[in-house]
Amino acid sequence: MLRSLGFWVGIALGLLACKKEKPAPASPTCPQADTAVITYRGYVAQVMQQHCTSCHGGANPSRGIRLETYEQVKQANANGKWYRSMENGSMPPSGKLDDCTLAKLKKWVDSGYPE
Ligand code: HEC
Repeated sequence: MLRSLGFWVGIALGLLACKKEKPAPASPTCPQADTAVITYRGYVAQVMQQHCTSCHGGANPSRGIRLETYEQVKQANANGKWYRSMENGSMPPSGKLDDCTLAKLKKWVDSGYPE
């Protein structure tokens, strides 16, 4: 009797140990994307200025797409194209943004474009 109790306790502990195992984080190379709140002012605007507005801004923006203000960026992603263009590596033309930047931009989109 005592032996079988030990057996069941062992199983229960084993199950508990399994449950404790955490799932892998969504973006192991970029923990900030999991924890930080990504806002337009705090992050996205700088990425756009650094990588995009030289072409997507001013009087004659490429493809008529401007990425200089919060509303413009949000609008550019209304059909998902803004994020997709970076994820598939076609924008910026000079080369794909790094995974961490992409993870943060995706988080910004997924969390509803915090301003
Ligand atoms: C060196 C100039 C240049 C830079 C920098 C640039 N783009 Fe572009 N972008 C273009 C041109 C030119 C087109 C039109 C390309 C085409 O139609 O094939 C375009 C098209 C696009 C489109 C439309 C794609 C489509 O399928 O209609 C999006 C969205 C876009 N760019 C987003 C961005 C973002 C976001 C960045 C910054 C990460 C960026 N671009 C940086 C020149 C640039």
